[in-house]
Amino acid sequence: MSIFGNHQQAVMRRALLGAVAAATPAFGQRGRRGTSAEAENEALSAPKDDAERRILGVIEEMTSGGGTYLSVPISDGKMLRILTESCMAKRVVEVGTSTGYSGLFFALALSRTGGRLTTHELNEGRAATARANFAKAGVSQLVTLVQGDAHETTKNVKGPVDVIFLDADKEGYVHYLKTLLPALRPGGLLLAHNTGMVPDYLSAVRANPALDTVIYSGGGGLSVTLKKL
Ligand SMILES: C[S@@+](CC[C@H](N)C(=O)[O-])C[C@H]1O[C@@H](n2cnc3c(N)ncnc32)[C@H](O)[C@@H]1O
Repeated sequence: MSIFGNHQQAVMRRALLGAVAAATPAFGQRGRRGTSAEAENEALSAPKDDAERRILGVIEEMTSGGGTYLSVPISDGKMLRILTESCMAKRVVEVGTSTGYSGLFFALALSRTGGRLTTHELNEGRAATARANFAKAGVSQLVTLVQGDAHETTKNVKGPVDVIFLDADKEGYVHYLKTLLPALRPGGLLLAHNTGMVPDYLSAVRANPALDTVIYSGGGGLSVTLKKL
């Protein structure tokens, strides 16, 4: 038991931290440390084998060659891969394919888990580009691209789905939630991008006691919602 009261302990702790900060040049430089962590998060991982090298090669080419369109930053792409692979997902549904960038991060995971991605895109040109990117990355056999209005096409999604990723029209997220949540298996993950733009969606998931949500704000704002077992 301390001979000091709580207040005295707090004062001493602050004084000690101040002394350490003065003696250690790097201490307290959150900005610099933060920047290097961010830079690491935005770096692609090293390929484990040739299949992964091929997928990462297309991601790299799209990143540097302007082949993305409103796509997730690399840090969020890595989160998509990590979450998908760690729950051994077999069935992933994405709403908002764009040119296939986030889909390729899912493909990194699904090529390990033996799973498949079904991805929905309204725009014909971007859907065609995505198909070409999937082919170039050697993952066409893992992906079904559904071209059309996802408010209609997602009505045909049958469960059980392990991971759902919402990244299309922001005003549609609540509708996608209503349509797709029944297909998500208990223990599955509902991911939504640009959460800063969808307060009504966040209110809806937070109000549902069958769900538990946390927001990863390192990249573009990614909410991670668990459908409880
Ligand atoms: C933010 S981008 C998706 C980015 C993609 N997930 C990525 O990271 O590469 C949004 C995409 O959703 C598509 N979209 C918008 N409304 C849609 C709808 N009702 N049905 C299907 N796709 C839609 C847009 O055409 C656009 O390509």
